[in-house]
Amino acid sequence: MTLKEIYQIETTKWDSIADGPRGRITTFAPEETFESYSHGRPQLRGVTEFLGDLKGKRVLEYGCGLGHVSTLLLRSGAHVTSFDLSRRSVDVTERRIAANTPGRTAALAVAAGETLPFADESFDIIFGKAILHHLDVSIGANDLYRVLKTGGKAVFSEPMGMNPVLNVVRDHVWYPKKTPRGADKPLSYQEIHAWGARFREFHYQEVELLSMLERGFGFHKKFPALRQLDDVLLEKMPPLRRYCRYVVMYMVK
Ligand SMILES: C[S@@+](CC[C@H](N)C(=O)[O-])C[C@H]1O[C@@H](n2cnc3c(N)ncnc32)[C@H](O)[C@@H]1O
Repeated sequence: MTLKEIYQIETTKWDSIADGPRGRITTFAPEETFESYSHGRPQLRGVTEFLGDLKGKRVLEYGCGLGHVSTLLLRSGAHVTSFDLSRRSVDVTERRIAANTPGRTAALAVAAGETLPFADESFDIIFGKAILHHLDVSIGANDLYRVLKTGGKAVFSEPMGMNPVLNVVRDHVWYPKKTPRGADKPLSYQEIHAWGARFREFHYQEVELLSMLERGFGFHKKFPALRQLDDVLLEKMPPLRRYCRYVVMYMVK
């Protein structure tokens, strides 16, 4: 498939999701911030500790989707720039921000993550959730490095694609709030390393082994015992890490 064909599939899919119930504008609790949102989520493990205080920082959100994280980044005091390939998603992001952070706004762009419309060294921090696995790393890794300031930090939380059972479930099994497949491809270790290759520091942590079952019950189910068991298994048995559902990638330029 060409990049143009991939963009067509992705735009059609995400525009239609933005126009559906998931694009409805909800309001966050007044006390909710990026930090509180991240703390309860295994897929964002260690992210707030790694990024530190966001106040006054220039933060870029990759593939902002329906704008939840961009809104919370603003709430945490960052100067936010966000982009997404789907124009309808960017529209929803704009409306969500207006409803949740009156008087504060983000710079929003409809753009592809492989070719960013931003100057070199523009951002102190880059954040992305479930976006790199939509991109072509052989083109996109260069721009990721380019737009981050020297000394800046980037963090991504991404689906991994090395668990054959999980891959069958992703392709063939129904579960609540399942997003239809598009042209995305959960990451291999080779791709994870390719995204991080140019950075001065790069490490990653695989998350959600048994606790991936939570996702089978929708977006908000928690099984604390499975999360604890994951911590033990992943610490004591590193070969199991490749079967996790997600990876958190931490980069410093
Ligand atoms: C799985 S959603 C994640 C959205 C958001 N980050 C979140 O966690 O809710 C993937 C998003 O990536 C966007 N996307 C897909 N391919 C893209 C590309 N090449 N460049 C920029 N955005 C893209 C889609 O439009 C969609 O909003």
